[in-house]
Formats: sequence, structure tokens, C-alpha cells
Amino acid sequence: MKRRDVLNSLAMAAAAPIMAKVAVAQDAEQPKPQKMASVEGGVALVTGSNRGIGLGFVKVLLERGAQRVYATARNPENLPAVVELDPSRVVPLELDVNNAAQRLAAVEQATDVTWIINNAAYPGSRVPEERRIRSASSLDDSKLVMETNCWSPAEISRLFIPTILNNGGGAIANILSAASWFCLPEYSSYSLSKAAAMMMTNGLRAELDRDPVLVASVFTGGVDTRASPAGMSGGISPNEHAHQVFDAMARGDTDVYAAGSKGMRDMINADPVAFERGRIKRFYESPLTIRNHI
Ligand SMILES: NC(=O)c1ccc[n+]([C@@H]2O[C@H](COP(=O)([O-])OP(=O)(O)OC[C@H]3O[C@@H](n4cnc5c(N)ncnc54)[C@H](OP(=O)(O)O)[C@@H]3O)[C@@H](O)[C@H]2O)c1
Repeated sequence: MKRRDVLNSLAMAAAAPIMAKVAVAQDAEQPKPQKMASVEGGVALVTGSNRGIGLGFVKVLLERGAQRVYATARNPENLPAVVELDPSRVVPLELDVNNAAQRLAAVEQATDVTWIINNAAYPGSRVPEERRIRSASSLDDSKLVMETNCWSPAEISRLFIPTILNNGGGAIANILSAASWFCLPEYSSYSLSKAAAMMMTNGLRAELDRDPVLVASVFTGGVDTRASPAGMSGGISPNEHAHQVFDAMARGDTDVYAAGSKGMRDMINADPVAFERGRIKRFYESPLTIRNHI
């Protein structure tokens, strides 16, 4: 046997047990647990429910037969208009998601909750440089973004899991973003918070695998709100977005592609480097900003 052939057979022999292990792991693959969650008859708590996508969730929850909706907002002055949608079913709650005392008060009051919709989010400072890593004067604003978009939904989920289980099970929908999959350099801190929140959601899903709680990662694309990119149109309405999310969760989807994000996912999968180069080019040539920053 030539030296190269000897080396090849040694390499194949070394690889054999590894290949066998993978085959065993595939044989032992567990079936996907199918948990289907319907909002009809459920009791939902929505964070950031006073406008945009959160308000759409409240309206569609009512339309689809939720028994009660805890409409929460950090500024209570914004809540009477939400309650007006259906005073018999909408309960207002003041909740700044970053306020630990308010989170505790919410879980003490809303004892019948079966659904949590972690929707509230902070896109980052109005000052573009502060939303980035290199140019920020400090990472304080980035840390607030991370707190609001990742750690606070984690805290709210942790607090409400016993409530949901006491009430027989339900769902947690974490509103992420297509920007969980890539960095928008104009909103680096937002992208990194949504990527972290995606992983936090994956962890929760694993921990709740054997419990009757569907944990959904909602990858939202373009919805027409104050957080939409300025100067761009074509986003769907918050109500349509909510219907897409609830339809997907009723089917048992754990990765929910809403408002066109599937197309973006496909583009990234097809050529991730070209996709990233496109974001970087835009960052230098015509930086994106959202409506509530202009
Ligand atoms: N619109 C899109 O195209 C799009 C795309 C991808 C993902 N998303 C995600 O969808 C969700 C909703 O966004 P949106 O478009 O509806 O944006 P929005 O109109 O800016 O609404 C954001 C909501 O979050 C609330 N909020 C912010 N910080 C909070 C805090 N500390 N405590 C409680 N509430 C707080 C805001 O309250 P105030 O009114 O008091 O500020 C507001 O109700 C977010 O998670 C966002 O990342 C949106």
C-alpha cells in the first residue's frame, strides 16, 4: 500500500465511529412535539399594547374570541383608548417591562393568564452613533436595548410560566424580528438584542418541551408602524400581522414567519455573504432609519 493510501485508510477508520454515532443519533430522533395554541377562550397579556403591533394583537385577540386581554403599557395615559375597544374584556395594566416591581404587580393581578405576548421593544437611541458599537460614546444605550428586548421578556416569561401552567397551559409568543438573523449596522444594538432574544426563546422552548406551553419565535418582517423604515412602504397592517401569528401558532408552528420575513430568510440562506454585503453597502450609502427616529 502506498503511504497516501495508508493515511487515507487510517483517516477513514478514525472517522467510522463518529459516522456511526451520527447515524444512531438520527435513529433516536424524537418526533416533533406538536402543540397547537388557539387564542379562542384564552387570557392574554400583551406588552406595549398601546400602539403599533401590540395594539393590533389586542384587537385581533378580541376578534378571535379571547376571554380577557391584559393590555399593558408603560404610560397608563395611553390605556383608556385600548380599554374602549371592549371594556368588558380589556383590563388595563401599567407595565414598563424593565420595572421589576411592576412586573411582580402584573403577575399578582393577572392570575388567569394563559398567553404572554412579549411585544414591547426599544429600537435604540435617536442618535444614530449611540446605536452602534464603535461609534457609541458608551454602551449604555445598547445595554438598555438589550434589557428591554431580551432580558425583560425573559423575566416576564419566567414570572408567568407558573401562572400559565396553573391555568392548564397556553403559549408564549416572543416578537422578534428578521433582524434576529443578521445585523442592521444602523441598528446594531437592536439586531444583537433580537438575536439574543431568539436564543433566549429557543432556551425557553427546550425547557418547556414537556409542558403544555407553545413557545413561538415570531420573526416579523415589515409591519406598518412607527418602527417601520422611513420612506418605505409595503408593510402589512398590525392586524394582519396578528392574524398571521395566530394562524401559525394554531398550526403548531414554533418558528413563525410573519409579514414577509420568509422571503428574507430565503435570501440569507441562498447567499449569506451577499446579503451581509448588501446591508453594509446600504449602511454607507443610504442609511436606514425608522419613522419614530425622524
Ligand atoms: N414594525 C415592524 O416592521 C417590525 C419589524 C420587526 C419586528 N418588530 C417588532 O415588533 C414589536 C412591536 O413593534 P412596533 O412596530 O409596534 O413598534 P412601536 O410602534 O414603536 O411600538 C413599540 C411598543 O413598545 C413599547 N415599549 C417600548 N419600551 C417599553 C418599555 N420599557 N416598557 C413597556 N413598553 C415599552 C412602546 O411604548 P410607548 O408607546 O410608551 O413608547 C410601544 O407600545 C417590537 O418587538 C419590534 O421589535 C416590528
